[in-house]
Amino acid sequence: MLNSMLGLFSQDMAIDLGTANTLVYVKGRGVVCNEPSIVAVQHDRKGNRNIVAVGDQAKSMLGRCPQDIQAIRPLKDGVIADYQLTEEMLRYFIEKVNGRRNFVAPRMVICIPYGTTEVEKRAVRDSAESAGAREVHLIEEPLAAAIGADLPITEPTGNMVVDIGGGTTEVAVISMSGIVYSRSIKVGGDHLDEAIINHLRRRHDLFVGPRTAEDIKIQLGNASSDFPFREMIVKGRDLVRGFPRTVTVHSDEIREALEEPIRLIIEAVTGSLERTPPELLGDIVDRGIIMTGGGSMLSDLDTAISQTTGLPVIVADDPLSAVVKGSGRALEEMDYLRMMS
Ligand SMILES: Nc1ncnc2c1ncn2[C@@H]1O[C@H](COP(=O)(O)OP(=O)(O)OP(=O)(O)O)[C@@H](O)[C@H]1O
Ligand SMILES: [Mg+2]
Repeated sequence: MLNSMLGLFSQDMAIDLGTANTLVYVKGRGVVCNEPSIVAVQHDRKGNRNIVAVGDQAKSMLGRCPQDIQAIRPLKDGVIADYQLTEEMLRYFIEKVNGRRNFVAPRMVICIPYGTTEVEKRAVRDSAESAGAREVHLIEEPLAAAIGADLPITEPTGNMVVDIGGGTTEVAVISMSGIVYSRSIKVGGDHLDEAIINHLRRRHDLFVGPRTAEDIKIQLGNASSDFPFREMIVKGRDLVRGFPRTVTVHSDEIREALEEPIRLIIEAVTGSLERTPPELLGDIVDRGIIMTGGGSMLSDLDTAISQTTGLPVIVADDPLSAVVKGSGRALEEMDYLRMMS
């Protein structure tokens, strides 16, 4: 009773704390914040860390800051790598959405990767509480992704969701509101960027940063030879002479550069299908595989997975916000809250 009255004054929110992006959903308002999970910190002489910028502003500093400032991603490979900065980042997003004025602490649903350990869960909970949450519920990413992609997860039918984020790819088979089988690999969009950086270094003697690599991935990256040939001019530093140089890069070489991480992603899907109980497998054959997460937007990745598995593959509408929308629905519909810890 008291809780529901408090709810009238505070802005209850759902947060997708991702390796690449953090999204915030506010009850009744939808997705209100979507920024990179990056914090820029400045080290003073005593070795203290002061936060200079968070989110979009910090991303624009990536690879461009003076020596005493560092742009850091507090989450790596889907888990928290730096607790203190994660907490500061959460606090920033919560204050941005909630305003400092609000005197009632919000309830929060936070989405975490499947397989997060108890210690890591505790850390997320503590961060959210010290950042101002009144009540914290955790939801696992595959469930949130499935709810956000509108899959009928409460029914006794099998649904397969493949979420390709920045740090991880999670494959899950869900039925009756539970995860029947799940596999998570530490391969995601970041690793595709790294593969592009390595390729340019080896093939072209060119050094580029992660932002340029991501740009190339979005424009030229692809997973099927059906992809139309495309070229792009890339600026970087000549590794031999140290000068700036431009190179023309084409889509076929980028596809080759991405082959290995993409093979691992496809293997995670086929391996999961092999371990899915037969009745649920039948459902998946009928309904297809649903993809969410930014990585699912790589050109023709859906085609490649469909060709390998022989199953229909559907990329969710707005794959980048499926997880936060699913977490938001869990916040709004108490039935779902029972599935959370
Ligand atoms: N059009 C696109 N094509 C290919 N990749 C893309 C595209 N748009 C975004 N991405 C990639 O999607 C990834 C981010 O996806 P998302 O926001 O779902 O990750 P995340 O939830 O932060 O990470 P995780 O779930 O692993 O913690 C980045 O690697 C980004 O480069
Ligand atoms: Mg994610």
